[in-house]
Amino acid sequence: MTLPHPNCRIIAVVNQKGGVGKTTTTVNLATAMAAVGKRVLVVDADPQGNASTGLGIERAARGAGCYELMFDGLSVEDVAVPTIIPNLYVITSSADLAGAEIQLVTTERREYRMKDALDRSTKDYDVVFIDCPPSLNLITLNALIASHAIMIPLQPEFYALEGMTSLLQTVEAVRARFNPSLDIQGVVLTMYDRRNSLSDAVARDVRAYFGDKVYETVIPRNVRVSEAPSYGKPVLLYDLKCTGSRAYMQLASEVLKREFAVLAGEEDEAPPQEQEVV
Ligand SMILES: Nc1ncnc2c1ncn2[C@@H]1O[C@H](COP(=O)(O)OP(=O)(O)OP(=O)(O)O)[C@@H](O)[C@H]1O
Ligand SMILES: [Mg+2]
Repeated sequence: MTLPHPNCRIIAVVNQKGGVGKTTTTVNLATAMAAVGKRVLVVDADPQGNASTGLGIERAARGAGCYELMFDGLSVEDVAVPTIIPNLYVITSSADLAGAEIQLVTTERREYRMKDALDRSTKDYDVVFIDCPPSLNLITLNALIASHAIMIPLQPEFYALEGMTSLLQTVEAVRARFNPSLDIQGVVLTMYDRRNSLSDAVARDVRAYFGDKVYETVIPRNVRVSEAPSYGKPVLLYDLKCTGSRAYMQLASEVLKREFAVLAGEEDEAPPQEQEVV
């Protein structure tokens, strides 16, 4: 692996489609991992700021965050704040992040702002999750370049696979030009409704398309999962025993198994050649 802190794994949660469960997955997977003793950092890279809210950091309480990390030279230590969950920290999405997309266009090393910042220091963490905005924009590109792997949440509905071609083409382009070892950690089916035959049919299509990249764990549609953010809590804290919490704990164990396999089989690779987007 090419990042300076080899035991820290950085995973971008990405799908340019809106409302598929990126933030819910980021918040709850991060919580489940912190609960088993991992030191976890969530980077809220979405100007909507939903991951920050879901982790209990209200807008009024947010100081410097992802924007300042990418543009003002602040370090992870400067901007990461603790959450109500032990071992779990968040870099919040600050209001200025909404303008970052335009600002990036004229910024030096515009594709590497997040990587440069995370490379400076992620030594305090075992896992970093980056919650991406619903767009394949420059912020998402920054996240893909900064990450070891991506996780793709998919909601099993009729158009679930639409847009996957452009996402996978983007991943290929990032591998070719910026980050050759970018891996797909896995694809997670979210908001799965067992009473809806369409969920089953689409899940079969997704498994046919992505093969064993799709986690066996499926996240069910569960009202407790959707209620939890309004209390500023991950569902694991809101209702530990509900089906949503259990599913996210099971997903965490699957993710960790894959991570162990990667770390165990890892060999030193040459660092990628850095290139500018033309
Ligand atoms: N398993 C679930 N059961 C019920 N509701 C869910 C579940 N997962 C997510 N939701 C709800 O679906 C909505 C979209 O989820 P979420 O915000 O995680 O998606 P997103 O991909 O991050 O959206 P965006 O693209 O806007 O960032 C939210 O209202 C959330 O509470
Ligand atoms: Mg989101």
